[in-house]
Amino acid sequence: DWTTGNVIDEQVAAIREQVGTKRAICGLSGGVDSAVAAALVQKAIGSQLTCVYVDHGLMRKGETEQVEKDFVAATGVQLKVVDAADRFLKALAGVSDPEEKRKIIGREFIRVFEQAQAEIIAEAPGDQPVEFLVQGTLYPDVVESGGGTGTANIKSHHNVGGLPEDLEFQLIEPLRKLFKDEVRMVGAELGLPDEIVQRQPFPGPGLGIRIVGEVTKERLDLLREADAIAREELTAAGLDRDIWQCPVVLLADVRSVGVQGDGRTYGHPIVLRPVSSEDAMTADWTRMPYDVLAKISTRITNEVADVNRVVLDVTSKPPGTIEWE
Ligand code: XMP
Repeated sequence: DWTTGNVIDEQVAAIREQVGTKRAICGLSGGVDSAVAAALVQKAIGSQLTCVYVDHGLMRKGETEQVEKDFVAATGVQLKVVDAADRFLKALAGVSDPEEKRKIIGREFIRVFEQAQAEIIAEAPGDQPVEFLVQGTLYPDVVESGGGTGTANIKSHHNVGGLPEDLEFQLIEPLRKLFKDEVRMVGAELGLPDEIVQRQPFPGPGLGIRIVGEVTKERLDLLREADAIAREELTAAGLDRDIWQCPVVLLADVRSVGVQGDGRTYGHPIVLRPVSSEDAMTADWTRMPYDVLAKISTRITNEVADVNRVVLDVTSKPPGTIEWE
């Protein structure tokens, strides 16, 4: 019988068996999956776990603060925050291909985890080795990444198909057989607050896979502003629970002519991609109220420099995926 209690008991026993007296680290992204995976592993091995939050510069506004506050407050977990924005930006410079971006981001995550591992060992050298890496991989991530065969069916999720070949960690993936709604139930059962458990999904590679073309600091700043506006208005309209998630995409290589005051503009379009879904394997575009769309469009074109057009993505999955890359 599937119950959250059974899943938790089974996983806690399996993790204890796997880790023994050694230590583990867990990458936290601010998303539901990594938070629930971390809480589960913490329940199993307590202070043998250190969480690592990598600020890769591809985060949304307020994300870092949210992890530092909400998650630590809820779990009391040991947290290490690594500022790796420069490193990720450098690695992504000049890269436009979506799969290449995903692989670079996956690889850089691991390199940062290795660095964190070395630091944790240096801080407490007499202790047990840090051999394990916890990831919040879900069942759909495994399927769409080709089951870890190295060839993505659809796209390489950063923590499955995007891993480097010379990975030195042993992986702990306690959510690998679960769907998102089940993960949320497990999180609630573990005592995580609604602000974490009911969050909309956000991909590990962050805004990096929502910028078509090259990822630069300027483009990230621009998209971060547009995303914050869209999220603010969706929340204000009470739509957070009705919409699965609403990626906001920057088409940086596309420009269109516009008019502002007496002058001509030549700016970037922003795409809104509100979707409704049960498990992210399939999705439909959300029939959102027009007045909410209008508000978002007006605010983004008024408040975000160099954006002069907002367009709505009305494609279901399939044939479109939820993210653009
Ligand atoms: P797609 O674009 O494949 O997205 O339809 C399905 C769901 O997965 C999220 N997503 C990711 N999550 N790492 C993640 O943690 C990734 O590399 C990744 N790629 C997509 C996406 O936001 C959606 O919820």
